[in-house]
Amino acid sequence: MEHLKLKRFPKDFLWGASSSAYQCEGAWDEDGKGPSVQDKAPVIPGTTDFKVTSDHYHRFKEDIALMAEMGFTEYRFSIAWPRIIPDGDGAVNEKGVAHYHEVIDECLKNGIQPVITLYHFDLPYALQEKYGGWINRQCIDDFVRYCEVCFKEYGSKVKYFLTINEQNMMTMFNMGGYATDRERYQANHHMLVAQAKATIRCHEMCDAWIAPAPNITCVYPLTSAPLDNLAAMDYDQLRNRLYLDTIVFGKYPEAFWVYLEQRGCAPEFADGDEEALKNAHPDFIAFNYYGASTVKYVSEEEGKKAKEKLKDPDARANMKEFMTGMMTEPGLAVGVENPLQQKTSYGMGIDPVGLRITLRQLWERYHLPLLITENGCGVPDTLNEDGTIHDDYRIDYLRVHIRACQEAITDGVNLMGYSPWSAFDLVSTHQGITKRYGMIYVNRDEFDLKDMKRIRKDSFYWYKKAIASGGEDLD
Ligand code: BG6
Repeated sequence: MEHLKLKRFPKDFLWGASSSAYQCEGAWDEDGKGPSVQDKAPVIPGTTDFKVTSDHYHRFKEDIALMAEMGFTEYRFSIAWPRIIPDGDGAVNEKGVAHYHEVIDECLKNGIQPVITLYHFDLPYALQEKYGGWINRQCIDDFVRYCEVCFKEYGSKVKYFLTINEQNMMTMFNMGGYATDRERYQANHHMLVAQAKATIRCHEMCDAWIAPAPNITCVYPLTSAPLDNLAAMDYDQLRNRLYLDTIVFGKYPEAFWVYLEQRGCAPEFADGDEEALKNAHPDFIAFNYYGASTVKYVSEEEGKKAKEKLKDPDARANMKEFMTGMMTEPGLAVGVENPLQQKTSYGMGIDPVGLRITLRQLWERYHLPLLITENGCGVPDTLNEDGTIHDDYRIDYLRVHIRACQEAITDGVNLMGYSPWSAFDLVSTHQGITKRYGMIYVNRDEFDLKDMKRIRKDSFYWYKKAIASGGEDLD
């Protein structure tokens, strides 16, 4: 539908950008911080480690000042659990607690609402060692205890908390390294229950709003074949609804539950799990969006073959084969490339229409306010001799996605804000710092830390203008 006239963004729309602790803070072992699973993971060849990253831990004041200069009204960042409780379940590290007080206060002083992710991929390593992390139910209690420390410390000044970043990606990509699907879905269930219990405790302990923060996208069938349409519907349950129906409606999507049961990997519920899922009522939905998914039907047999390949180290080393294997669910669907979707040089989708569809689907399904907590263009940038960075590709990307937000608002969607990835350059999950997302350049290379100077990219000035005009001036 093409609108003749677009509605304006609401006056209190949250404009800002995002980051995550382990990808930007550095100071990986300073001031009592314990190691996270990210600190202990093998470094991907050709990319930097996570020890220094963007040094935000020491430079957060300068970074927040630049965000304020752009006109941000929100900054989404994460608290590192191992900075607050270094071994995950023991003593609270006062220096870690004090650090985030300073960051929050600095945001508020600058008129920026902190939007805090409680857990962004950085489980305390000690819990992985002690009991295997999320596969153990004990992790639920330890997570909730950590969240309680955060609610008690920060709950009076923070309006928005997010529970777990991209739980769905952690499960789909088997980031816990589980040997069977049964374990993978059991660990996932523990995270769902932990999230639900943390949501309940947040409401009991403070006035803040709290939301899940999965990576959500609409799913296109590759063809109009009826089976591909069914595959798209099924994949939507596996990729999206498993993470949102459970927290909003308090139950697993029905068809997907049957699928899990029939394959012997339905998770076991313990006493209290069902109540927790039913009684946790998120106040809004935060989600990350990087382009739509496209799928086709895959038979049981074909799907199993693709999965088998994952066991072969040569096939695993081939990114395409690896992705296909990971995106396959035998008898259900396989994720495929969409020849009609534009892509960045790193192969990530550029699909603003998909964003509008996703926003509409989420709103129509859940009727909760929505916050986009990630969306962005990760590509290399060139720092010119005169100190400029002409990242027109990033501006083009942001422009079409912000316009899609406005279209969705015009469609009737309640969208609270737009917080792209990322405010300043930080280290990608697996592709180093060469893949840059920021509007603020961080002057370092993959292996040369240089001076870490912050430099305004063209997108910095563009976003500043866009925010000042309330999202109207996107030229
Ligand atoms: C999201 C994550 O999946 O995408 C971020 O929440 C991540 O942590 C971002 O950095 C971009 O992905 P990548 O792999 O390019 O860093």
